[in-house]
Amino acid sequence: MTRAIAAGVDAISRDLVSTSMRGFFSGHAGLRYVFFGGKGGVGKTVLAGATAVRLARDGRRTLLASTNPVHSLSGLLDQDVFGKATDVRGVPGLAAFEIDTRDAIERSKREIREKIQWFLKFAEISTKADEFVEAATMNPAFEESAMFENMVDLMFRDEYDVYVFDTAPTANARRLLGMSKVYGLWVQKMLKSREEAQSLRESLSFTKKKEDDPLMTYLVGFRDRIAHARELLTDPGRTAFFFVTLPEALPIAVIRRFIGWFTDFGIPVGGVVVNGVINPEAGEEQPEFVRNRIEMQAGYLGQIRDQFDGDVRAVLPLYDSDIRGVTMLDRAGAALFD
Ligand SMILES: Nc1ncnc2c1ncn2[C@@H]1O[C@H](COP(=O)(O)OP(=O)(O)O)[C@@H](O)[C@H]1O
Ligand SMILES: [Mg+2]
Repeated sequence: MTRAIAAGVDAISRDLVSTSMRGFFSGHAGLRYVFFGGKGGVGKTVLAGATAVRLARDGRRTLLASTNPVHSLSGLLDQDVFGKATDVRGVPGLAAFEIDTRDAIERSKREIREKIQWFLKFAEISTKADEFVEAATMNPAFEESAMFENMVDLMFRDEYDVYVFDTAPTANARRLLGMSKVYGLWVQKMLKSREEAQSLRESLSFTKKKEDDPLMTYLVGFRDRIAHARELLTDPGRTAFFFVTLPEALPIAVIRRFIGWFTDFGIPVGGVVVNGVINPEAGEEQPEFVRNRIEMQAGYLGQIRDQFDGDVRAVLPLYDSDIRGVTMLDRAGAALFD
């Protein structure tokens, strides 16, 4: 059965793939930040897992991380990896980590509260910080950016050879990187006016002692972090975003949009992975609904060839069960890379 699945899908794969996943990785030997994006349910978590297992098997210290509030790595690996980087059983060199989103959000809130309190004191405004903190943090965009910050922190800590992120923070990467030029200019302006204010204050005071300015320190730190994140995330030698689709209308439309955005922002697109392809050769003796599905998939596979010409890296079959545990991830990894 498994062989039959593979054989039929292999022919499709030969037709669609010019530079394979393996070819792409050997052409990008310095790749360190690997992301999977796409519509919900297309197989991002499974493919991130299979890729991470494969990279670890190749001898690279690998972290498989999820910044998604709805975690699925523990389920995928049959092992609790919540809250801290945990060695994956059966795969030397691989750790997995579901980031505790609630903890990350609370920490960001605390930091914002400190800054707001400092600023209110600095500006001599006698209001409680709470309202401002609520206003700044009670929205979904805040949670998203707290998660994004978390991901960037992991990247900066630099403890692994390669990082595979389950679920690309697509909207965020786009927003943050799109905004980073604006942030840069804005921070530049703020810094300049604060420097002027500070030198005025210094020239008016008798003591020439330079004051610590926490807001300025924060702005400089923020600007540098964004610049660094941008540098890493836009470097095609180090970063690649892969987009996963099924041979179906909606998932294709979703990744086409993502690829357009990413290309516009100079974020490196590694390519497209087509998942869930039913073996066409198994069609004859199958019930009618399966044959109809195969026919439908053939149409969308044609679309994929036309729209992502040269960018398809792998075609994976629809397996006869969910993909869970290291053994199945090795199998999916072989379909992805070999
Ligand atoms: N090629 C495949 N064959 C069979 N089941 C698959 C395949 N790819 C993914 N799945 C299953 O489909 C479900 C969704 O996959 P998942 O990786 O969680 O998607 P996403 O992370 O994009 O939401 C999971 O139950 C997974 O085991
Ligand atoms: Mg997922």
